[in-house]
Amino acid sequence: MFITFEGVEGSGKTTQIGFLAQYFFKKGIPFIVTREPGGSPIGSELRKLLLSEESKINRTTELLLYLAERSEHIEKVILPALKDGKIVLCDRFSDATRAYQIYGRKLQREEVENLIYFSTNGLEPDITLLLRLDPERALSRARRRDKANLFSEGKFESYDLDFHRRVYEGYELLAKEYQRIKVIDATGEKGDVFQEILKALIIAGVISEA
Ligand code: TMP
Repeated sequence: MFITFEGVEGSGKTTQIGFLAQYFFKKGIPFIVTREPGGSPIGSELRKLLLSEESKINRTTELLLYLAERSEHIEKVILPALKDGKIVLCDRFSDATRAYQIYGRKLQREEVENLIYFSTNGLEPDITLLLRLDPERALSRARRRDKANLFSEGKFESYDLDFHRRVYEGYELLAKEYQRIKVIDATGEKGDVFQEILKALIIAGVISEA
């Protein structure tokens, strides 16, 4: 079972993945937690390149680096875990490329979809939890957290609010298009958001009880 989490920065993905990991741990269900960019053996180097302010790479290079990292991530981490019968909890996957590179960076959809297919060999998540939080609120949350972090990656300065709005709208459109994407209202308390996630997983038949 391949479960991905998506949403704009500051939507609370990392916290919720932590809650779900704890839930699986308590139930004795085997799982791994991973993320993009950063989950593959070359991932942390690529993450630095992709998210640092100094890189200022163009949008085509950026797209290709995300996809290169994904290809490694699938081969070295995701497929082996799935073959072992583990649940894979992944913080971002191809929907992030769709939302950020197609809607955010305005790259051509058909070309990007072809490249996504090429680099993933058609692998898509079984279910995607999209944490919905309006971009203004999410961004101020993310900036606050980023400022408090000594090892800030500096990624927020490279985008403006319009960019984040396009990403948000992009995710909304993807949720209409793909049935596997379940929208979770992420405005409430962390614990309430987690209950929504459990409900969505029960309805989807992934788990049987909260
Ligand atoms: P995050 O670790 O807070 O989720 O940040 C990862 C950043 O990388 C975020 O700005 C979204 C961006 N990203 C893309 O633009 N395209 C992608 O395909 C992926 C996986 C991430």
